[in-house]
Amino acid sequence: KKVVLAYSGGVDTSVCIPYLKHEWGVEEVITLAADLGQGDELEPVRKKALDSGAAQSLVINAQDSFIRNYAFPAIQANALYENRYPLSTALARPLIAKLLVDAAADYGADAVAHGCTGKGNDQVRFDVSIAALNPDLKVLAPAREWGMSREETIAYGEKYGIPSPVKKKSPYSIDRNLLGRSIEAGPLEDPWTEPLEEVYLLTRPVDNTPNSPEYLEIGFEQGIPVSINDTRYDPVRLVELLNERAGIHGVGRIDMIENRLVGIKSREIYEAPALLVLIAAHRDLESLTLTADVSQYKRGLEETYSRLVYNGLWYSPLKQALDAFIAQTQQRVTGTVRIKLFKGQATTVGRKSDYSLYTPDLATYGAEDQFDHKAAEGFIYVWGLPTRVWSQQVRNS
Ligand code: ARG
Ligand code: SIN
Repeated sequence: KKVVLAYSGGVDTSVCIPYLKHEWGVEEVITLAADLGQGDELEPVRKKALDSGAAQSLVINAQDSFIRNYAFPAIQANALYENRYPLSTALARPLIAKLLVDAAADYGADAVAHGCTGKGNDQVRFDVSIAALNPDLKVLAPAREWGMSREETIAYGEKYGIPSPVKKKSPYSIDRNLLGRSIEAGPLEDPWTEPLEEVYLLTRPVDNTPNSPEYLEIGFEQGIPVSINDTRYDPVRLVELLNERAGIHGVGRIDMIENRLVGIKSREIYEAPALLVLIAAHRDLESLTLTADVSQYKRGLEETYSRLVYNGLWYSPLKQALDAFIAQTQQRVTGTVRIKLFKGQATTVGRKSDYSLYTPDLATYGAEDQFDHKAAEGFIYVWGLPTRVWSQQVRNS
């Protein structure tokens, strides 16, 4: 009877409103638009939902929670799907799912809905996250079932007073939030075709970046970025500032073929300047402050973590267990990393920490050397023993 719909203001989610009412007999559609820093004006979006037939139109600013509760844990996990994609779109989905479930409880709704198609990852992320948060709540996905082409969707909307898009639709499908932009479709569907400069918005092309490098000192406390150049920033401001600085130097572009959960390979362009810089800096600080075994073991778990987040399992028990492991490892990941931004590259050029495990007296080749060289001999005898025994056996047989 009453449904909370995740709403973006686009044609598809707008058409979901009359479709839910007239085809599926929903009495009341409450729309929920989450402000995650998409850069859109949200007041027109709020109005548009009402004009499209929504009974109520909610706009929720969730930027702080997005960075604090979703982006920062992913940075602590150095999360890169297939070693490259920092999950800038994927991380928004479990948060939106939570907002939907909370609104459903507040407004006494029987179901929640989203406008995802059946070919993507996002439908999986919404459906599974919602199920994890409230297994009794029904999830409706009209666009997955209606089978309308783009033209038919627009025509259907016009019947119910939803204006067809005024601007000629861009050939690209774009998702944007504070963490970056994801661009797909149109000319990008040919994996051999270089992306036109027009797909990028947050990062400059290298031939238009400053000719001198910029240095940033990023301060971390327990694996969480808290400052830039000794000034503390709240999470949202810190990400915004870093997007700007890194973007100016052309840092943060990714062009990749990725494996979607639904079995499709897709060509994706990403811009995620701040997130990529923060992961690189965080990883470097870990190399200074974690022991070799914890650091190496964590690498393996990071890959699993990234896959879980990509595949919609943010609220799963395995993800929660990994969170506990990662939290334990972050206790002494406190310190500062010095990053050089120049011509499309973010390079770590320095790191320091009160908890540094780097011991100059052990590492040095100079006279201060404290390492006991004689101890190495016995160690190597024992370390190499199994290999020596094996080799002897191979020779003699
Ligand atoms: N492939 C990415 C992901 O699954 C981004 C998808 C974003 N959507 C878009 N319309 N470009 O997280
Ligand atoms: C879609 O929204 O259906 C495409 C993007 C994705 O979910 O991977």
